[in-house]
Amino acid sequence: MTDRYAVIGNPISQTKSPFIHAAFARQCSQDMNYAAISAPIGGFSEAVAEFCREGGKGLNVTIPFKVDAVMIADHLTERAQLAQAVNTLKFDENAVLGDNTDGIGLVHDIQVRLGISLRHKRILLIGAGGVARGVLLPLLEEGPAQLLVVNRTLGKAEALITRFADRGHLAAGGFADIADQQFDVLINATSASFGGECLPLPADCFAPDSLAYDMAYGRGNTPFMTQALASGAGFVTDGLGMLVAQAAESFFLWRGVRPDVLPVIEMLIAAQQR
Ligand code: ATR
Repeated sequence: MTDRYAVIGNPISQTKSPFIHAAFARQCSQDMNYAAISAPIGGFSEAVAEFCREGGKGLNVTIPFKVDAVMIADHLTERAQLAQAVNTLKFDENAVLGDNTDGIGLVHDIQVRLGISLRHKRILLIGAGGVARGVLLPLLEEGPAQLLVVNRTLGKAEALITRFADRGHLAAGGFADIADQQFDVLINATSASFGGECLPLPADCFAPDSLAYDMAYGRGNTPFMTQALASGAGFVTDGLGMLVAQAAESFFLWRGVRPDVLPVIEMLIAAQQR
């Protein structure tokens, strides 16, 4: 019988996950179906229970349900536990596993697709919301020399790093604290790009060999990418590669096979340009 999977969120019409997972399934010869479910606000657990009753094997969880999904899981991976957010649910006979593949997707995209090691690097993580929380542990696990989390609201950055304090060289600050500092990798985990806004970053925090990574994506360069290029960053990218890489990690958790992300990224870029 064909195994059933889906992405669940609200709104969900914009999701690329069914396209990505259908491509993975073809590539890896997996007999599976992957749909998109729009759950009403306040109706997340009922929608999950229904999908499970109907024999569903796994779900990707997206905005605004990633925190609700923590409650649904019987067991959490450590990275989901620390992120306090779940983007992947796996339904076994008697238990529900909750994982968070966002951070490993980001790390994979930077290190494998872009070929930039994070080990001993100076990393600036911009933002202290759910997106930033989801990627902190996987970033720290790569052994950077320093990871500074800056946020418009300093208290949120300070609160965020407390639970990761024993995991590496981690510090919190406001935008004023990064004057006269340069970073190897600058990651935008704020929602500023969605509003078309630029971040108050000093131009000299980007170096000619810096990577500026925007976790947001869309048509063309995001405001953060444009800002980074104008400030002299050598490499810029949006988060499309991370999107596909986090999906690949979910696929691996469910199916035990690891798809090749590159052809799927290329298909998405080609579809965007059409
Ligand atoms: P998410 O779960 O998507 O991370 P969030 O919890 O609302 O969403 O967090 C959004 C992040 O983007 C926060 O770090 C926010 O900064 P504040 O904590 O100070 O609100 C940041 N952000 C949003 N718009 C921004 C802007 N124009 N400039 C700087 N930071 C911005």
